[in-house]
Amino acid sequence: MTTYRLGVVGLGEGRSIMSAALASDRWQLHAICDLNEDVCRERAEEFGFARWTTRYSELLEDPEIDVIAIYTPDQLHHEHVRLALEAGKHVVCTKPLLVSLEGAEELIRLAERSGKHVFVGQSSRFFEPMLHQRRDFEAGRHGELQTVEAHYITDGRWFLERGWSRQQGFSWMYNFMIHAADLVRWYMPGELEVTGYGQCSSTSRDYGVEAWDSMRFVVRDEVGRIGTIAGSYTMPGLGRDAEPSIGCTLRGTQGSSRAEYLNLTYHTHFSGEGKRRQDFADKHGYYFRFEGESHHAGEYQNYIEYFAQCLDRGAAPLPDIREGVTTIALLEAMRRSADRGGERVRVSEVLKDYGIDG
Ligand SMILES: NC(=O)c1ccc[n+]([C@@H]2O[C@H](COP(=O)([O-])OP(=O)(O)OC[C@H]3O[C@@H](n4cnc5c(N)ncnc54)[C@H](O)[C@@H]3O)[C@@H](O)[C@H]2O)c1
Repeated sequence: MTTYRLGVVGLGEGRSIMSAALASDRWQLHAICDLNEDVCRERAEEFGFARWTTRYSELLEDPEIDVIAIYTPDQLHHEHVRLALEAGKHVVCTKPLLVSLEGAEELIRLAERSGKHVFVGQSSRFFEPMLHQRRDFEAGRHGELQTVEAHYITDGRWFLERGWSRQQGFSWMYNFMIHAADLVRWYMPGELEVTGYGQCSSTSRDYGVEAWDSMRFVVRDEVGRIGTIAGSYTMPGLGRDAEPSIGCTLRGTQGSSRAEYLNLTYHTHFSGEGKRRQDFADKHGYYFRFEGESHHAGEYQNYIEYFAQCLDRGAAPLPDIREGVTTIALLEAMRRSADRGGERVRVSEVLKDYGIDG
């Protein structure tokens, strides 16, 4: 069994991928990097892991590293992915892959020319209830899918304290709501049109953040299936029983299912089976490895192990760069629609505007 060597850049959320790699028998954590020396020292001590640097170029130049894992602020992903590909590395990049489609087609071409994989660490796909839901969907248990309802609703006011949340290029839509948008696109991968609204509260404004912090969108695909994408980020939350932050509900002619994030539950009602509630609380320790559920590494371990299996087979891990870019195009279509007071926008028209092959 091949073991792949990982270099991690950005050690905030990078802490989760460090934990995932150290716990996995498919990966060897080779080196870590953060601009902030104190963060490097903190992680080195936490994990008893000595090989750290403050210079990204050292990871890129290290011939031992197979895959670079990128967990730097959103606005830096484009550059960090490009540099990793140019250095001949495979990439796993956390969400959002990009904050703009400017230069996205060039990045796709670079990835294709390099023969290296860019895998988007779209963590919510790899959470326990979502994995079960996907299996049921692929087994056809929902019958003909009619609607997909996804939300990511959380009190993210703590996030406004972050320096980079107040920099240009940050948006709640790209940083948070992408989880819900990706889940909808995962089940509705065809051509989509979207309409919706966004609103920026005084809470965000008081921090100098102009991005919408409440958003509601409706999407429709070419066969008429309907998806809803909901996000609210700076209002007091209702607690996990009422609102398990990320959730995805599928409704089809033969069954309905609902996968819930924070409380690790999966509800189903399939034809001939009656209503069922599966509880994965026994896996809480695997998913949430750190104090206060602040970081969660189980999904990360699931996705890098899936990535390793793809590398073994020479198969593209999904979401790959093209799929990741299409999700960003969906976000851009949502943004345009809300900007234009709810006008209907097609994802294909966004891709075309940026010269990206859909
Ligand atoms: N569920 C998920 O998949 C999930 C959850 C949280 C965060 N994220 C993503 O992880 C990324 C980082 O978020 P975070 O919450 O850890 O932010 P953070 O600010 O806590 O950490 C970012 C780190 O990157 C470092 N950094 C910045 N520029 C760098 C550079 N040029 N070279 C090396 N290091 C550099 C900073 O010093 C900082 O320690 C974001 O893209 C975010 O969207 C994903």
